[in-house]
Amino acid sequence: MIRTIYWDNDAVVLIDQNELPLEETYLTCRDYQHVITAINDLTIRGAPAIGIAAAMGIALGVNNSSDASCEGLKTLFEKLCREFSETRPTAVNLFWAINRMKRCFDAALPQGLDCVKKTLVREAVRIGEEDVEINRRIGMHGRLLVTDGDGILTHCNAGALATGGYGTALGVIRSAWDEGKRIHVFVDETRPVLQGARLTAWEMMHEKIPATLITDNMAGFVMKQGKINLVIVGADRIAANGDAANKIGTYSLAVLAKVHGIPFYVAAPLSTIDRNIADGDGIPIEERNNEEVVCFRGVRTAPDNMAVYNPAFDVTPNEYITAIITEAGRATPPFEENIEILFGNKE
Ligand code: MRU
Repeated sequence: MIRTIYWDNDAVVLIDQNELPLEETYLTCRDYQHVITAINDLTIRGAPAIGIAAAMGIALGVNNSSDASCEGLKTLFEKLCREFSETRPTAVNLFWAINRMKRCFDAALPQGLDCVKKTLVREAVRIGEEDVEINRRIGMHGRLLVTDGDGILTHCNAGALATGGYGTALGVIRSAWDEGKRIHVFVDETRPVLQGARLTAWEMMHEKIPATLITDNMAGFVMKQGKINLVIVGADRIAANGDAANKIGTYSLAVLAKVHGIPFYVAAPLSTIDRNIADGDGIPIEERNNEEVVCFRGVRTAPDNMAVYNPAFDVTPNEYITAIITEAGRATPPFEENIEILFGNKE
């Protein structure tokens, strides 16, 4: 099993995703600033994994504190929550996990500092473990949409590496494969950071699931050739009406899928659905460093001083989405009502 992130001996251990697929190395973070850097520089990335990293990072910061007063610990905790919430704006799982840690902190504080420290570590570990279970349930619901012999296109990495383990979109693919369906996965390379080529391709090879890597601009042609029966992607934040933010390039795929009559599925946990945001226009879109576009691994690929625009995500309007697959089942249009029903199933 691929281990993305875990708690070990008062430290947070992460697989270094910037080194994959060339090297499989693990990074041990002994202070919370190290975890913040790892989130910012994409050592760990993917919405659910970012949430788990923030929860573990907050637990680490509190655990390392020598402050003996409740007041002092509360001030530190608030600072930690603030600093983690300033890392990556689009993935709502980050804020979801921080809120969960806040509720846990408030409940444990009256029982003293030791209790707070232990409880926060336990909660952060639990968030990671629950995520794997949730992904398995997403996989079970999603595999019903996959038919023996299907060609499946995916974008970015919504796999074990982007989550506590197993994956959302790749969880559906894993689950269909484990059920014995003979599928073939087409992996978009996913410019500019190549999460598809580096991470999804690595995961597919790790699991021996048949897969072919294509560059992003090949998707339309491959669809036209009849090689794709369904598209499945993850999400970083889904608005109440089903509009879904995911890695830049997802929107173009959804439009192409519609033109070719191919179903387009979004697989995500309920914690990725932000019911406080009515539609995709309200989703904050992270813009990342120009270097990601003009360089690759330190090698410059564009002229100096070239103007660059680098939004890390785009929003796919709900009209292009066939269904949203969650741990509580599938929502189909009309999404406003059917997403609410999913939350009702869970509560
Ligand atoms: O910038 P990244 O690599 O964090 O972006 C990741 C994605 O867009 C994933 O598709 C999304 O977080 C879903 S992961 C289960």
